[in-house]
Amino acid sequence: MKWAALVGGYGSNLEAMLEYGNAVHLVISHKANVRALEVAEKYHVPQVVLLPKAYESRQAFDAALLAVLQKENIEALALAGYLRWLGPEVIAHYRGRAVNLHPALLPSFPGLNAIEQAFAHGVFWTGVTVHFVDDGHDTGPIIAQAAVPRYREDTLDDLRERIQHHEHRLYPRIVEAVDKGIVHLEGEHVIWEESK
Ligand code: GRF
Repeated sequence: MKWAALVGGYGSNLEAMLEYGNAVHLVISHKANVRALEVAEKYHVPQVVLLPKAYESRQAFDAALLAVLQKENIEALALAGYLRWLGPEVIAHYRGRAVNLHPALLPSFPGLNAIEQAFAHGVFWTGVTVHFVDDGHDTGPIIAQAAVPRYREDTLDDLRERIQHHEHRLYPRIVEAVDKGIVHLEGEHVIWEESK
């Protein structure tokens, strides 16, 4: 499948995906001058920057995003540090073919600053979740999780680093599994094809 990675920040997960060999044909960022775009450049992946403030409404932004995706015949989306909620049309179009990575064990700590939230809460275990995107916020059907310990002596940076390490291992492999049809969505259910 032809994938687009949707980014907006540092791009370490994009880098992990490209390093691993995921079929990323396009990088779309909602911010200019972010490191993720340098990563796209380094791997010679075409990039598009769509700045929300250049559009008069959310709907206009979402329409522009969908237009770019369709023009480039993008078949699947991997969200990697894209800090915007996708519009309903994009979600409907890519249902079962859009995945998101979240730095906590959903349904705990959805939304922004998940690592900070978990740390502040004093949990002993947190982790990483990869899920299909639905029209809720970090609510879609869960494909895979990795549990990550928080040790008593951890600083927030220690925990962040450990979580990112797990993200970089897990996300490319799950993107590959979706890409190859090893896992797919049927209704609300995530189905793994054990024999493939
Ligand atoms: C990751 O922690 C991911 O879980 C979250 O945003 C962060 C993106 O980091 N959705 P990067 O831009 O891939 O380095």
